[in-house]
Amino acid sequence: MLRYNLPPLSKQFYITTAIDYVNGQPHLGHAYEKVITDVIARARRCLGEEVFYLTGLDEHGQKVQQAAESTGQDAQTYCDGLAQDWQSFVEKLGISNNDFVRTTDARHKKVVAEVLQQLYDKGEFYQDEYVGFYSAKQETFLTEKDRNEDGEFDPIYGEVQELREKNYYFKLGQHQQWLIDFIEANPDFVRPDYRRNEVLGFLKNETLEDLCISRPKERLEWGIPLPFDPDYVTYVWFDALTNYLSIPRSRGEEADLWPADIHVIGKDILKFHAVYWPIMLKAAGLELPKQVLVHGWWQKDNQKMSKSTGNVVDPVTVIDDWGLDAFRYYVVRELAIGPDGNWTDEGFATRYGAELANGLGNLMNRSLSMLNRYREGIVPEPNDELSAEALAARDKLVKELKASDLQEGLRTIWTYIGRVNQYVDQTAPFKMAKDPEQAERLGEVLYNLVESCRLLAVWLQPYLPDTSRRIYEQLSLPANIVNIAESGWGELAVGHQVNKPEPLFPRRD
Ligand code: ME8
Ligand code: MG
Repeated sequence: MLRYNLPPLSKQFYITTAIDYVNGQPHLGHAYEKVITDVIARARRCLGEEVFYLTGLDEHGQKVQQAAESTGQDAQTYCDGLAQDWQSFVEKLGISNNDFVRTTDARHKKVVAEVLQQLYDKGEFYQDEYVGFYSAKQETFLTEKDRNEDGEFDPIYGEVQELREKNYYFKLGQHQQWLIDFIEANPDFVRPDYRRNEVLGFLKNETLEDLCISRPKERLEWGIPLPFDPDYVTYVWFDALTNYLSIPRSRGEEADLWPADIHVIGKDILKFHAVYWPIMLKAAGLELPKQVLVHGWWQKDNQKMSKSTGNVVDPVTVIDDWGLDAFRYYVVRELAIGPDGNWTDEGFATRYGAELANGLGNLMNRSLSMLNRYREGIVPEPNDELSAEALAARDKLVKELKASDLQEGLRTIWTYIGRVNQYVDQTAPFKMAKDPEQAERLGEVLYNLVESCRLLAVWLQPYLPDTSRRIYEQLSLPANIVNIAESGWGELAVGHQVNKPEPLFPRRD
């Protein structure tokens, strides 16, 4: 048989979120991370790529074990109950994830054991005795230098216990210079830049301590056993990070998915993703993810969100009240991926009124109403008065989507919406309609309006999928994925019949 040198099948675009602690409550931060990841995933699909989007739950560790004990349940039963709440949260968010990992899945545990065994065989681990302190709340070891000035450990560590125990350690230090070189050679590996500089600063100024990757079973049972020593389970972060690999591998899709294209995470877990994870992969002889994309943290009314003070945003309540797309719009438009954000209910209502109800909603409504009123809903001859501006906006948007610059992409779309609303005011088709001599000009204007509405539906697919689908419906077009980069001006054909408009974002004032 003749053999050809075929290029490898193209890899899918693989994107992940952090996996949430199962014992926490789903909140705005979790919703935000899943939504921005979803917008990137959908954008890539709308640019012709095949995409795999993974999210899920982090279920092992002492915190979970203790929480389960306090409810009198065994840990697995406890996690199964909470996992249902998290899965319905994910459904509420309407995100387009392709799988949902739970670190208690057998498929995940198997791969964690494989990686541990592989690193052990390569001599990356050694055993040593540890004497010091341990915070179960943060699942971390502490030393004297972690004490506050008053000699106490910070309340964030919860109850701190004194320990003397033998554990396995991962020799991180020997990879430190390699990692510095790698991050310097790959400017996009950590984004935004100031997060990259933070990692480089840390790596250049501090010696990496070896990482304790085990916990004795007598102290912690709720974890994945070390395959080379049954007296231990593995450290919850070693377990959790491996989810990004375990799912592709256990699905038999490692070649198709790995390395990941983007890990989306919050700023507090940067070191785990930009230091520990790359070293784990490198030591195991695996390729590194292409990017760690780090978002900031949300506050409400300039204060830390906290259940105890009642200062929280419950995404589910907001979605029930205002609709899913309004929620997606606000969080993506309000905050770029990087800095910290501040939620205010007034800011939300203002954006809803001005940008969704008036800006986008009004444009759709007046464009389709006039086409129905003046032309019985039938698309007139194509005209390209707004074509150059529309295509310039499209090209700018495509660049922004490829760079995961989601907030800027929304600005681009809304600048175009503003321009088309202004075009209606300037051309005043409602006046032309009264003058039979202006019938041809009226047809030109109506074409520019309805074709702009179609393009907006195409552009909004990643951001506001349901709104996009409803616009297609009102335009009487099939709502299948349309390639944003390839959809040009003039695709609405003369004679096509549209439907009646229905308000996309009902006014609330
Ligand atoms: O850290 N604003 O889980 P987690 C924005 N299991 N993002 C926020 C936020 C806020 N107020 N609060 C939390 C964990 N987040 C680990 C991850 S990954 C292998 C293991 C983000 O439930 C946080 O930064 O505490 C993180 O990216 C995600 O929510 C999950 O946090
Ligand atoms: Mg956290």
